Amino acid sequence: MPTFRAPRGTRDLLPAERAGFRRLETIASDLARRYGYREIETPLFEQTAVFERGVGEVTDVVEKELFRIAPRTDDSESWALRPEPTAGIVRAYVQHGLQTLPQPVKLTLTGPMFRYDRPQAGRFRQFWQFDVEAIGDPGPAIDAEIIELGRRFYLDAGLDGVEIRLNSIGDPACRPAYVAALADHYRSSAALLPPLERDRLERNPLRLLDSKDPAMAALNATAPKMTDRLCDPCAEHFASVKDHLDALGIDFVEEPSLVRGLDYYTRTAFEFWPAGAEGQQSALGGGGRYDGLVALLGGKATPGIGFGLGLDRVILALEAKGAAVAPATPLAVVVGADPDATAERLRIATILRGQGLAVQAELGRRKLGRQLESAVKAGAQFAVIVGDELETGHVALRDLDAASQKPVALADLPALLRRKAGTAE
Ligand code: HAM
Repeated sequence: MPTFRAPRGTRDLLPAERAGFRRLETIASDLARRYGYREIETPLFEQTAVFERGVGEVTDVVEKELFRIAPRTDDSESWALRPEPTAGIVRAYVQHGLQTLPQPVKLTLTGPMFRYDRPQAGRFRQFWQFDVEAIGDPGPAIDAEIIELGRRFYLDAGLDGVEIRLNSIGDPACRPAYVAALADHYRSSAALLPPLERDRLERNPLRLLDSKDPAMAALNATAPKMTDRLCDPCAEHFASVKDHLDALGIDFVEEPSLVRGLDYYTRTAFEFWPAGAEGQQSALGGGGRYDGLVALLGGKATPGIGFGLGLDRVILALEAKGAAVAPATPLAVVVGADPDATAERLRIATILRGQGLAVQAELGRRKLGRQLESAVKAGAQFAVIVGDELETGHVALRDLDAASQKPVALADLPALLRRKAGTAE
């Protein structure tokens, strides 16, 4: 057993897995750019109050899963690692006066999040999200645009059949009466409630609907539905989101029990689920509208909507399909007949790298045969062999797959390798 291990619920992304993440990050940033989102970075930790107020105090994420940073002194501010990016992005929107820019302000962030969750398959204490937020547009068209963007991410990543689940959770005009009806429903069976849920019934009954406790399944199945009790503006908004999705030809399933685990949502709420995920616990991604959040964090009332897509779960789903990504390999390795001529090999590799090529140099003092074996193992296509011909400005270029080689003038080598790499203009 090694003396030290990565903390429970976290893992090292070794090159093979990191390559898969890099691919998803590239897809995410390319899509975000095409849809008009600009990148933002916020700190990995914030004042705890940003999450308590933003995400909500009576949520799993804040009550049970927040990674609080131990205060250094008695009068230190209270900080916590970000469990999700939306609250921090909205905090930044308010702090930097982004409401003076043309609205909506479309922002994207891809990075690690932290939740002190019970580690299990697809549930980590440090995980990665691709997040987008469109702040300053009341919808409903942008709601459909964002859902379509999420769907396209999964398609581009290579996951087919991802199911879109959709709901509306109303707004401050219609939700209170619904929440009261929901509380009555649970109160009538209070004896069946697990202790945590009984406690939450008085503080935030909506949270019972998305409880992870299996004892809640039957009670939740018979609970009243928010979509039966929407006020007219919320009902119109929901109908129009669905019309826009229909116009885009996007299939979705209405899911009345979908309330999301965070308190800031209003109206549109949606999740992405793996194909055939019946009874499964883990969504691939989720999001929704948060028309009250900017004001809650001290800005002027401004609507917003966004999503967070969990990258770890996409990687797991792709691995399960056998669609892992191979890490990048060098185009060529510079090797040589004189084991001691490391400076020469390094000099030639440096020239080629300066021309934008992915080239390694053999810097050990092994025999040429060993150097070539190691170039093959590194996955290189070519070996640049430095020998006596260097005196006339030549090297040998060996095609490692075809096991053939020919002399090449050093001056012609960069252009030739660029052509071979398929990057020639
Ligand atoms: P969320 O549903 O809490 O929403 O998280 C979004 C996604 O992050 C989940 O669907 C899941 O894929 C991934 N995720 C969450 N927790 C874990 C975990 N412990 N391990 C692995 N993956 C996890 C949000 O975070 C909102 N900020 C989304 C949003 C953005 N809403 C509006 N804008």
